Amino acid sequence: MNASTPAQEPEKPPSSIRPERPWRVAVLANVKEDDADLPDGVAADALADYDHIETIQAIQAAIESDGHSTVFIPADRNLPYALKEIKPDICFNIAEGLGGDAREAQTPALLEMLRIPYTHSRVMANAIALDKTLTKRLWRDRRLPVAPFQEFIVGDESLRSELRFPLFVKPAREGTGMGVDLKAIVHSEAELRERVEYIIQVYRQPALVETFLSGREFTCGLVGRWDARRYSRHPEWYTEKHGYHVFPVLELDSSRSVTPGVYSHVSKSKSVGEEGAPGYFCPAEISPELTRKLQNLVVRAHMAIKAIDVSRTDIRLNNEGEPVLIEINPLPGLTAGYSDLCLEAMAEGISYEDLILEILYLGASRWGLLQGRELPAKKTKK
Ligand SMILES: Nc1ncnc2c1ncn2[C@@H]1O[C@H](COP(=O)(O)OP(=O)(O)O)[C@@H](O)[C@H]1O
Ligand SMILES: [Mg+2]
Repeated sequence: MNASTPAQEPEKPPSSIRPERPWRVAVLANVKEDDADLPDGVAADALADYDHIETIQAIQAAIESDGHSTVFIPADRNLPYALKEIKPDICFNIAEGLGGDAREAQTPALLEMLRIPYTHSRVMANAIALDKTLTKRLWRDRRLPVAPFQEFIVGDESLRSELRFPLFVKPAREGTGMGVDLKAIVHSEAELRERVEYIIQVYRQPALVETFLSGREFTCGLVGRWDARRYSRHPEWYTEKHGYHVFPVLELDSSRSVTPGVYSHVSKSKSVGEEGAPGYFCPAEISPELTRKLQNLVVRAHMAIKAIDVSRTDIRLNNEGEPVLIEINPLPGLTAGYSDLCLEAMAEGISYEDLILEILYLGASRWGLLQGRELPAKKTKK
């Protein structure tokens, strides 16, 4: 990438990495059925972060392209029995879970209990990331930039003085824009109370109230780990510095979307390029300095919650033009040509297969399923 790097000794091409035998991979997911009947009293956008069967099939095809066999197991209440019967070598886990305060951690917890290897983050990071308030507390503790916030559990708590209107109100523990539309921006105490009440009643969870971040919106994903180069099919993606490969920054321009200024559930549901969809620009047209700043922030955001191997972090600029972390997704959407992370990989020429297999190989390496390659010893200063 860096044309001005002085000539160095040519590096030996790294040895290719293969498991001793193909794996039997179970893809674990919750499937979205478009015509599913939701029980009364459940929000219309409930289950929005479940996956379409086509996404699961695309993941299976990507894994099979490397010679492994796959099976899809729905991550429902029968999952423990299905796992015992199928006995996968590893699970490619994208399950969103079945309710509760840490639903994205349910499947990882079960897999830990059954000692079955799996991809993506482990129990704690998945639980923390689903809880946006908790995530922000951890980031704040690391001196990472977050907007001032307050969690409303009952609804009539008095508003803290550092929170100035306009404010943004959203469910504390959802994804895929659930509970987020133009009414999330509130301009007065009356609007605030109404929206907080709505979130608590309809989503049955606390409402997270934050300063409204009025600037441009970005999202940026990464793959990797400090020792990723030992196990990656593409060690050239990684630097020695921290072992992460940070994808190009994606800008989401919601200004002309169905919900101007907000990357809402409705706007996320639109196909890329469709009328009312946000504009997707990757790499974002921003200065190299801001790019570096954002990419550095997403690595630190990922490390602060102990996410593993892959994540995607959302960021907005505040009134002063400074980047502020919004939330992190350790289970980022993986729909080819549509999900933010896939668009970012595509923007730098990384194929969908390579992205999926990278997550699989990094996951497998943590469970002793892959023999790592030897890396040249780091040069140490005298
Ligand atoms: N504090 C905020 N200020 C302005 N917009 C926000 C704020 N928090 C969230 N948003 C908007 O709402 C969208 C969804 O919020 P986010 O926390 O990322 O939830 P989700 O998990 O549903 O993606 C963001 O992409 C952004 O457009
Ligand atoms: Mg988001």
